[in-house]
Amino acid sequence: MGSGDFDLDDAYAVETPDDNRDLYARWADTYESGFITDNAYRYHLGVAGAFLDAASADDGPLMDVGCGTGLVGEVLRSDHRCPVTVHGLDLSPEMLDRASTKRTVDDTPVYDNLLEGDLTAVLPVDDGSYGGVISCGTFTHGHVGPAAFDELYRIARPGALFAIGINPDHFVAHGFEARFASDVVADVITQPIVHRVPTYGAGPHVNQMSPVVVFRRR
Ligand SMILES: C[S@@+](CC[C@H](N)C(=O)[O-])C[C@H]1O[C@@H](n2cnc3c(N)ncnc32)[C@H](O)[C@@H]1O
Repeated sequence: MGSGDFDLDDAYAVETPDDNRDLYARWADTYESGFITDNAYRYHLGVAGAFLDAASADDGPLMDVGCGTGLVGEVLRSDHRCPVTVHGLDLSPEMLDRASTKRTVDDTPVYDNLLEGDLTAVLPVDDGSYGGVISCGTFTHGHVGPAAFDELYRIARPGALFAIGINPDHFVAHGFEARFASDVVADVITQPIVHRVPTYGAGPHVNQMSPVVVFRRR
């Protein structure tokens, strides 16, 4: 595999956090110019839009988990409706490096804070730190499963707004839908609204629609 020709099969082939670190270390430089451009990726637009449609000025700061090169933050901060500051967390220092270069039209950093962290472990974040949590492209093959919500609920304060993109094949099959249903019964979260948004504008998965789950922490 060459350094510039990664695709969805490579992303879906990873199994462990170390596989992820290795893949994204090699992919970071060409992630946007290759995969994102080739497939006219637009999932981040739908995820950011779902957050902004529900957000108020109280829903910050916002943590973008699995922020990658910073596409979600870029969309959020370019939208006049974004009422909050945005932080990012990712497993890959190389992807975080790319995110750190993102600037707003006012030439300020898109992300006020970027953290290295593993969503399959304890996050380096205090309890109740965030008024919002957003994620796109991270709850997918070989990446992160529903158990990560234990930590995401911990770092969110009561009332925090979540907008979480989840791979369409995993939403039911990997237990996300069931997890959210039991969290509603346990009064941990509000009843989720599940939007379906386009993932790509071109390429082999052009017709794929992916869930974005929006709810609030109780
Ligand atoms: C497909 S990329 C999506 C990046 C970005 N959100 C986007 O929409 O372009 C998945 C990201 O999840 C990160 N990731 C994978 N497993 C992770 C984990 N266990 N903890 C934190 N980040 C993880 C990867 O490093 C990568 O940056």
